[in-house]
Amino acid sequence: MRLGRIGLVVATGLATLLYAVRPRDDGGAYDDYFRGLNAMLRKNGPARPSLLLDLDRLDQNIDVLRQSIREPKHFRVVDKSLPSIPLLRYICERARTNRIMSFHQPFMNQVAAALPGSDVLLGKPMPVRSAEQFYADLRGDFDPDRQLQWLIDTPARLAEYRALAERLGRRMRINVEIDVGLHRGGVQDTAALESILAGIAAAPERLELAGFMGYDPHVAKVPSWARSRQSLIADVHAAYQGYVDYTRSRHPELWNDRITLNGAGSPTYRLYENDTLLDDLSVGSALVKPTDFDLDTLAPHVPALFIATPVLKAGAAARLPGLDALSTLLDWWNPNLAQTFFMYGGNWLAHPAAPPGLHNNGLFGRSSNQEMLNGSRRVVLGVDDYVFLRPTQSEAVMLQFGDLQVVRGGQIVDRWRVFDQ
Ligand SMILES: Cc1ncc(COP(=O)(O)O)c(C=O)c1O
Repeated sequence: MRLGRIGLVVATGLATLLYAVRPRDDGGAYDDYFRGLNAMLRKNGPARPSLLLDLDRLDQNIDVLRQSIREPKHFRVVDKSLPSIPLLRYICERARTNRIMSFHQPFMNQVAAALPGSDVLLGKPMPVRSAEQFYADLRGDFDPDRQLQWLIDTPARLAEYRALAERLGRRMRINVEIDVGLHRGGVQDTAALESILAGIAAAPERLELAGFMGYDPHVAKVPSWARSRQSLIADVHAAYQGYVDYTRSRHPELWNDRITLNGAGSPTYRLYENDTLLDDLSVGSALVKPTDFDLDTLAPHVPALFIATPVLKAGAAARLPGLDALSTLLDWWNPNLAQTFFMYGGNWLAHPAAPPGLHNNGLFGRSSNQEMLNGSRRVVLGVDDYVFLRPTQSEAVMLQFGDLQVVRGGQIVDRWRVFDQ
C-alpha cells in the first residue's frame, strides 16, 4: 500500500518534470514577406517544388559587397555558388566586374561561350584531361591564352599542363595555389613554390605566371576561444606576403603588372577592407546567403534564395506508424507535434523557414517524395499553401529544381536557366 503511494508520487513527479522541460511552442504565422509570396504562388506559382531568387534582396547583398570591395581591389564571382548564366550576368553587370572563379569544366565552357568577355580563374586544380576537354569544347571568342588562369598546386601538375600546352600549341596562364592556413593543399613552403616558379620560367613560350590564390575560410570559423580572428588573419597575411616576396626577389622575370593576388571567400571577404596586399577577392554564396553563411562576418547580408513547395496534406498530431501509444505520449509532451503536414518533395539540404516553427520528424524519417513536417497549433498553414525553406548551401541545391523563379517586388518576373552539368 505504502509502496503503491510512493510509486504514484514518483510517477507524478516524473511526469511533472518531463512536462516542465517539454519543448517550447515555436509555431506562428507567415510574416508579411512570406504571406505575400504565398498568396502570389497560390495564384501564379509552379505548384511544385521550386527555387525563388529574390532580386531585391540580391541587389541589397551586391550593394553591401560593393561598399566593401573597392578599387584597387576587384570582386570575382564564384560561379559554383551561383550556377546560372543569367544570374552571373546580372551580378557582373550590377557589381561592374567581369571576373569569375570557376570550379567545374562544363561550367567553364558555358561561361566562356555565354560571357566571352570574362576573366576566369580556376578555384581548384583540375585534372589535365579536364583542361584538355575544356579546350576541345571551347566555342566563340573567349581567348583562354589571355582570359584564363589555370590553378596549379604541384610541380607534377605543372609538367602535365606544360605538355598539354605544347601539344595544343598554346600559352597557358598559371596561377599558383598557396596554403595560407586552410591546409587544403597548395604550395606549403618556398621549396615547393620554387619548383613551380622554375618550371614556369623554363618554358616562357608556353607558360606565364598569372598570380596566386590563397583561400582562408577557417579565419571566420575557428572558435574565438581557440584563436583570435586577428591572429588568424595576420597569419594568412604573413604567409601570402612571404610567397609574394619570394617570387618578386627570386624570379623578377616572372613578375608583371597583370599578376592577380586572389583570396578570401564569402566568410572572410569583409575582413579585407584595410588590406593592401590582395587585389582580387572571390565571393559567391554570400550574395544569396544560405544558412551555412549565417556568420557574424556576413551580418549585413540577407537571405535571397528560398525553396518554395506546396503542402499536399495537413492534419492533426503526428502519428508514428505502428507506434500509436508512443505517438500519444510524444504529442502530449511536445507542443510542436500538434499538426502534421506533408509537403511536395523534401529531404533537401535546407531548413524550414516559414511559416515559423516547422520541424522535420526524426522518428518518422525523411522523404524526397512527400516529407513530413510538424508544427504547433499556432502554425497557420493549410493544403496548397507553400512551405518556404532556406538552403544550407547554394551550389548543390540550385541545380536541383530546374529554372530559378526570379522574384522582384513579390512577383515572379522571369525564369533563369541553371548550368547544364
Ligand atoms: C578557392 C575558393 N575561393 C573562394 C570560395 C568562396 O566561395 P563562396 O563565396 O561561395 O563561399 C571558395 C569556395 O569553396 C573556394 O574554394
